[in-house]
Amino acid sequence: MLAFVGQFFTNFKTTGAILPSGGMLAKAMTRPVRRAHGPRRILEVGPGTGSFTKHLLEILNPGDEFHIVEINNAFARHLEKRYLKSFRLDNPDITVILHCQPIEEAGIEGVFDFIICGLPFNNFPASLMRQIFRKMISLLTEGGKLTYFEYAGLRIFKAPIVGIKGREKLRRQRAIVKVLHRRHCGQRDFVLANVPPAYALHLTG
Ligand SMILES: C[S@@+](CC[C@H](N)C(=O)[O-])C[C@H]1O[C@@H](n2cnc3c(N)ncnc32)[C@H](O)[C@@H]1O
Repeated sequence: MLAFVGQFFTNFKTTGAILPSGGMLAKAMTRPVRRAHGPRRILEVGPGTGSFTKHLLEILNPGDEFHIVEINNAFARHLEKRYLKSFRLDNPDITVILHCQPIEEAGIEGVFDFIICGLPFNNFPASLMRQIFRKMISLLTEGGKLTYFEYAGLRIFKAPIVGIKGREKLRRQRAIVKVLHRRHCGQRDFVLANVPPAYALHLTG
């Protein structure tokens, strides 16, 4: 928790939230993976201190392959030390690879059955948001699931206080989301028991 709050103040733009996601949101984010039988290829983008990662590690089976992409060195070191090192030792037949780089530059091979994305899109310019979604969709198998989250009502609360440029950014972000959800059968789960309440949003490849 403290590691996360510290990064919020030093890397506000990329961290994007003051608190890590709670257990109920993590459950909603990982539900599509839990429903599928393996072997599965899973990608997590923007794990932070590992709110979703620890749930994913619990449901991996022998033969599964799990890639994690995190831009922030401090978060990557924390994940490696806290979860990944011991997990690899205990589970030699599950592949877990941590890539410390931005997802938009990551040279990851192959496609994934599930992508769990914890990126703070509201902090990103619309052009970067579009670039990252394009990259993630290109990494998804046909019929695969891409899950990301958004705080409930954030855009409605932000609109009156962000000025003309900010409202234009919100409008462009909303337009990107609309197209994505139309093209990729968007669905959403509302999670009230999170601070703040959030939606887990699911797209199909
Ligand atoms: C809002 S935090 C979410 C952390 C965690 N998934 C959670 O929900 O508690 C966003 C995370 O995305 C990472 N991040 C931001 N931009 C990124 C990028 N372009 N590529 C990979 N990771 C990124 C940040 O460093 C941070 O760990």
